[in-house]
Amino acid sequence: MLGLLVATDDAWAPVAAADLGALLADHAHCEMKAASNAMSLVARYGGMHDVVTTELIMRLTDLAHEEIDHFRRVMIEIARRGERLGVPPVDDYAALLRARAAALPWVTGRPRDRAVSLVERLIVCALIEARSAERFKLLTTALEASGEMHAFYAELFASEARHYRVFLELATQVCGDEAMVRARFAALAEVEAGVVTELSARGPRAAIHG
Ligand SMILES: [Fe+2]
Ligand SMILES: [Fe+2]
Repeated sequence: MLGLLVATDDAWAPVAAADLGALLADHAHCEMKAASNAMSLVARYGGMHDVVTTELIMRLTDLAHEEIDHFRRVMIEIARRGERLGVPPVDDYAALLRARAAALPWVTGRPRDRAVSLVERLIVCALIEARSAERFKLLTTALEASGEMHAFYAELFASEARHYRVFLELATQVCGDEAMVRARFAALAEVEAGVVTELSARGPRAAIHG
């Protein structure tokens, strides 16, 4: 699904759906990180006029705006349940993926300059969006019987799947070489699959990337 090489373990969705309180607390932080990450790309790379266009900045800003909307809607649900936003949980998935992606040699012969590092970050973002979309889809199915949050997660599945495509389009635009982006995505998808397999061996948790 969406270029992912391994599916989430079947044990995850029932565990996540059974503890929506814990899941929402983790989910809220994921949305906030997605928004701040998109804006940090603008802050860090927005001035690279040779590769970053105004249109690219606008698309990242639109995406950040949508993630803030997701965050607010998760927060509304948390408040409706009489709960509060907790401290951000450690997201081993994103941390491991980013560290291993950075350590993976860039083998295309192109120097690993700032443009390449932006391409890498955009591809990693695409993978994180793809995994989030996959999990929202699983949640949609798991919540079908109770109906609770079902429509919300169905909508978010479509939204994060679209973000996956946006990040890949932006990576291709910055790189200027679709085949190179495809090859790098395939290499990083293997890294992502390794991280997911490793983390799922710890047992399922009520967390979006747990
Ligand atoms: Fe989102
Ligand atoms: Fe997203």
